[in-house]
Amino acid sequence: MRMSKLKVGRMMLTEEEIQQQVEKLAEQINQDYPEGELIVVGILKGCFVFVSDLVRRLKADIKVHFMQVSSYGDGTVSTGNIQIKKDLDIDIAGKHLLLAEDIIDSGNTLSQLIPILKERKPASVKVCTLLSKPSRRQVEFEADYTGFEIPDEFIVGYGLDCGESFRQLPYIAVVDIEE
Ligand code: IMP
Ligand code: MG
Repeated sequence: MRMSKLKVGRMMLTEEEIQQQVEKLAEQINQDYPEGELIVVGILKGCFVFVSDLVRRLKADIKVHFMQVSSYGDGTVSTGNIQIKKDLDIDIAGKHLLLAEDIIDSGNTLSQLIPILKERKPASVKVCTLLSKPSRRQVEFEADYTGFEIPDEFIVGYGLDCGESFRQLPYIAVVDIEE
C-alpha cells in the first residue's frame, strides 16, 4: 500500500515578516479605534495565533470573542453554505465589531457571515485578515485590513492547518505531499 505523507515545504512568509505586518495592521486599527470598546471576533480555528498577536498590540477597550463557522462539505473547497458551529454568547447590538480571519479564500465564509451578524444590529462591522488569496474569490469580498495578498497555493502555519497539522509553526509555508 502506498502512503502519502504531508510535509512542510517552501517558506512563504517568515516569522519576522509576519510580525512586522501584524504590527502595521495594529497601527492602522489603533488609528481607526483609538479608544472605546471594540469587540474582536476571531473566526476559529485558524485565527487563534493571529488574534493573540494582534490584540496584544491594540489600544482600545478590547474584548475578545470567537465564532466557529464552517462550510458544508469537506476539505479545502468552500461550498458556499455556512454553518455556525460555535456562535457568539454576547449581545452585539450597538457594539463595534472587528472580525479577525486568518485567510480569505473564496470569500464565501465572510460574505455569508456578515449579513447574519448585521441582523443583530451592531454599530459597525469591519474585517481584518492576515492573508488573502484574491485569485480564488468566488464572491467579491475585500477586507478593511489585509496583511498579505498571496498567490493560489495551499499554506500552513501561524494557525493555518492541513488536516489539523502544522498550526503551531511560527512561519507560513507551502504544503508538500510526499509519495
Ligand atoms: P473562504 O474565504 O470562505 O473560502 O474560507 C476561508 C477559510 O478556508 C479560511 O478561514 C481557512 O480556514 C481555509 N483556508 C483557505 N485557504 C487555506 C490555506 O491555504 N491553508 C489553510 N486553510 C485555508
Ligand atoms: Mg479560518
